[in-house]
Amino acid sequence: MQSYELRERFLAFFKRHEHAIVPSDSLIPSGDPTVLFTSAGMNQFKDYFLGKRTDLARAASCQKCLRTGDLDNVGKSPSHHSFFEMLGNFSFGDYFKHEAIRWAWEFLTGTLDFAGTQTSPDREACLNLPGTKLWVSIYEEDEEAFTLWRELGVPAERIRRFGQADNFWPANAPTEGPNGPCGPCSEIYYDSDEKVAGPNSLEVWNLVFTQFDRQPDGSLKPLPKPNIDTGMGLERLARVMQHVETDYETDLFKGIVKRVAGALSMWPITALRDKQSIYTVSDHVRAAVFLIADGVLPSNEERGYVTRMLIRRAHWHGGRLLWNRDERPPFEPFLDEAIPAVVEIMGQTYRELVQKQGFIREAIRTEEKRFSETLQSGNERIQEECARLRDHNEKVLSGDFAFMLKDTFGFPFELLADVVKLYYPECAIDEKRYRALLEEQQERSRAASQFGGAVFTPTTLTLKDVPRSEFVGYDTLQADTVVKGIWKQDGWVQSAREGDEVGVVLERSPFYGESGGQVGDRGTIEAPHGRLDVLETTWADELL
Ligand code: SER
Repeated sequence: MQSYELRERFLAFFKRHEHAIVPSDSLIPSGDPTVLFTSAGMNQFKDYFLGKRTDLARAASCQKCLRTGDLDNVGKSPSHHSFFEMLGNFSFGDYFKHEAIRWAWEFLTGTLDFAGTQTSPDREACLNLPGTKLWVSIYEEDEEAFTLWRELGVPAERIRRFGQADNFWPANAPTEGPNGPCGPCSEIYYDSDEKVAGPNSLEVWNLVFTQFDRQPDGSLKPLPKPNIDTGMGLERLARVMQHVETDYETDLFKGIVKRVAGALSMWPITALRDKQSIYTVSDHVRAAVFLIADGVLPSNEERGYVTRMLIRRAHWHGGRLLWNRDERPPFEPFLDEAIPAVVEIMGQTYRELVQKQGFIREAIRTEEKRFSETLQSGNERIQEECARLRDHNEKVLSGDFAFMLKDTFGFPFELLADVVKLYYPECAIDEKRYRALLEEQQERSRAASQFGGAVFTPTTLTLKDVPRSEFVGYDTLQADTVVKGIWKQDGWVQSAREGDEVGVVLERSPFYGESGGQVGDRGTIEAPHGRLDVLETTWADELL
């Protein structure tokens, strides 16, 4: 069964059960400034879950999602992606576990019980997977879910109990938070060998029973109206329905993989390592296309940086294959050839890809070209550094050099290792120091970031969110500095426009903050692209 049919069947099934079919939100969550990207179907319904909006009781969607937490696994694992689609049905204080479990079973199997004795009236529109290939997990303390699965006839040995790391959403919420709505979940697994928790088991659907409101003291207060939030990855479901071993062999990816491999003259792909690189390129180019279509152009800003990194990673994963075949940087941009395949496969569902195809291609081409030049100059620098080390009979390339390459040129560490191996095989790289510098930098940008990452983080700033500022006003009234953060109302923002009244945190500041009856300094901040009037200066701990 093709992926377009999976989307359609899912939405039609829940429409028949009186769900409003809501279009996918953009990858930039509308109305939620605390989250960098839409990472689950429920993101756009946050206000419904919190009871702030009540005009919908049930909804279903196929949501474009982006997760960047585990990029290193993408391509290596058969089912990890940066961009993916999530099918989901939601109840906002309306139906609860009973219906969520029954409908999930019915949609997957086309039957109303484990034995399959009662057929669904909608059998034609269901997926009709054999129940014997499914098993489920529940949160270890969720007796209600256990009883409901048993009522469907699922044998007790096909119901596994797991702890809060696996079967609570957000994971580990009871002990670690965040505060706010959370609940146990029940996951449905498919196993082609009919084994429970066998090596081929694939988690296909997560049913979250959002029934608690975690309090600041860590207690779980039952919500007056519990909610349902389910999520089923379309790529995995397609893999199950199309009987293939990785998501990349489904109709969602096959055409892209073929074009990428073709562009690198690697079709058919034989070696596993090559395959993984080509899968990574395919995943990343697809994600970059969707990001750009949603307006996230490559840049150094938080969101744009993700697009930039995806394009760069895609280019060097492909470049490495060419390198293995003795081609040397710069490599010609090749991602462009894969874009029509992405548009062909996804354009019918996401019309924006068709409409913006020219623009998307141009944006990717420009970024890739720039990066290929970076690779070339990085390559030259590494060659020089290797020659210098060799002259001094030194055998360790410093972590500072590696960090400088990454920080200034965006030159990936993994590629540096390849290049060094080529020019000076006996030379090691001080990876420990490199990782320490990277960690420090990430710490700094986390501190300056407005994005919590968690779905229910409050927007109010706290003192620990504010980057430290060095006061240099005892020695000077004027100083060169860097803007470390801008906030507006109670959240961090990326930029400000003429007329905006915003707070600014400086790295070094000659402005004295209001204290002990003395008024705070006023003055001006001049930057290449604007001028700010400083109306008052305050200590962050006075303000928050
Ligand atoms: N929010 C849950 C998840 O992301 C279910 O959709 O897995």
